[in-house]
Amino acid sequence: MAFSERIAAPAFRRLVTDQAGAAAHVANGALVGFSGFTGAGYPKAVPAAIAARAQAEHQAGRPFQIGVLTGASTAPELDGVLAEAQAASFRAPYQSDPTMRRAINAGTTRYKDMHLSALGPAVRGGVFGPLDVAVVEVTAIDPDGRLVPSSSVGNNQTWLDTAEAVILEVNEWMSPSLTGMHDVYRPGRAPIPINAPGDRIGTPYLDVDPAKVVAVVVASGPDRNSAFKPVDATSQAIAAHLVDFLTAEQRAGRLPSPLPPLQSGVGNIANAVLAALGASGLRDLTSYTEVIQDGMLGLIERGVMTTASATAFSLSPEAAELMNQKADFFRRHIVLRPQEVSNSPEVISRLGVISCNGMVEADIYGNVNSTHVSGSRMINGIGGSGDFTRNARISTFVTPSTAKGGAVSCIVPMVSHVDHTEHDVDVVVTEQGLADLRRLAPRQRSRAIIAHCAHPDFRDALTDYVDRAEAASDHPGQTPHLLREALSWHVRFQETGSMLA
Ligand code: COA
Repeated sequence: MAFSERIAAPAFRRLVTDQAGAAAHVANGALVGFSGFTGAGYPKAVPAAIAARAQAEHQAGRPFQIGVLTGASTAPELDGVLAEAQAASFRAPYQSDPTMRRAINAGTTRYKDMHLSALGPAVRGGVFGPLDVAVVEVTAIDPDGRLVPSSSVGNNQTWLDTAEAVILEVNEWMSPSLTGMHDVYRPGRAPIPINAPGDRIGTPYLDVDPAKVVAVVVASGPDRNSAFKPVDATSQAIAAHLVDFLTAEQRAGRLPSPLPPLQSGVGNIANAVLAALGASGLRDLTSYTEVIQDGMLGLIERGVMTTASATAFSLSPEAAELMNQKADFFRRHIVLRPQEVSNSPEVISRLGVISCNGMVEADIYGNVNSTHVSGSRMINGIGGSGDFTRNARISTFVTPSTAKGGAVSCIVPMVSHVDHTEHDVDVVVTEQGLADLRRLAPRQRSRAIIAHCAHPDFRDALTDYVDRAEAASDHPGQTPHLLREALSWHVRFQETGSMLA
């Protein structure tokens, strides 16, 4: 059996087994809480063994499926293998894996898309029934049996506290210098005492009742670590509009200097926004967010950002190497917290966070769809965008003005699915420009969004829609719409078929 220097506590060494041995502790019908957030800190070995078990059971004509809970998205080694083996009957709260997405959209995996701050309390409160097993990746187990977390914290402490049985995966690839970067705190109903992004309120370790640990597996491998696309003209233009807006708000005295903490969503545009912030001359930036991407490490290295608080890393392979090499430096500037704390509505509101998230489409009145194509097909999930948007000091959404090579407008008369309502969306940004909706009534909003955010190829059609909606009847109303036409806008695209089946 694999021996690891990383397992210093004798009681845990005795439990070392291989991944198949660990997977034997997961029964058909079990609800399993896995570690993992945005492709970071997920178990790399045990899920494949669970998937292999499911396949063997299915071949023998017996059922085998589990419910899969995580922090957020994982990787092919977790969501991918389980979906491929048709081993996931249920999934929450967020995913981004193509195979899992297919199972969800086919209706074979039931998916509960949830705010990321909400799953931990729901599991502790028994909403999903008992949590049978926790499978949690850690960097090391110290002599006292304390667990050094890996590259994400997510819901791990809740899984360790509530699961009836615990499987630990010790990943030897993770740098031991991650020790001390985490701040594990068990939130309850009392106020979370964070007043600045860098405040530490917990301990650097996860803890577990050793009596619940049924297996320890030694693994070695990096996180998903996908490379970012090079910053292109579209994301650069979006970033430039946002930076202009923020600095204008500072000049007008509506935002302080330095800026309040920033939240930045995942993906290439968010990464480009961070690069633009770095080049803007803004200084002493801080971040209270979910995920630390490459752009943020760059800002910290250059001294532009002083503190970044998140629950996980989401790094390219090069940035992951850099993190491993310079963890001692980054530890002074980075805090990784449970997702209930990184995404806490209470803390986001107290700190006055400025949020910036990607979207699928916005409508002319400022409602935002972050999750569904053509109203039906799930892409990833709402993630933390709702946690931040509803509670931000200023909430912003960014997207290219078109998708599918220019065939589809990301500004539409009425969104085909609503994740964020007009009441919560302050600013919409595309490469065309920025619409500040904060003081605008619906009839002003539609004109601002069309003029500033819609692509010129779609501007006339959208303007024509609003003109006719406003003129349509004796009572066009507060928010004028031509309902049949608003929906047919999406039907036209649906008929062209394509993506995210
Ligand atoms: N209509 C149809 N399809 C659209 C579309 C639109 N208006 N806008 C985007 N798409 C498609 C893209 O074409 C792409 O599909 P493809 O891969 O088949 O080409 C897919 O949706 C993703 O688009 P992409 O431009 O690659 O998106 P992104 O990386 O900027 O991500 C979201 C955009 C909305 C998917 C992403 O921000 C998300 O998952 N958000 C929800 C979670 C969240 O906000 N978390 C933030 C807290 S960390």
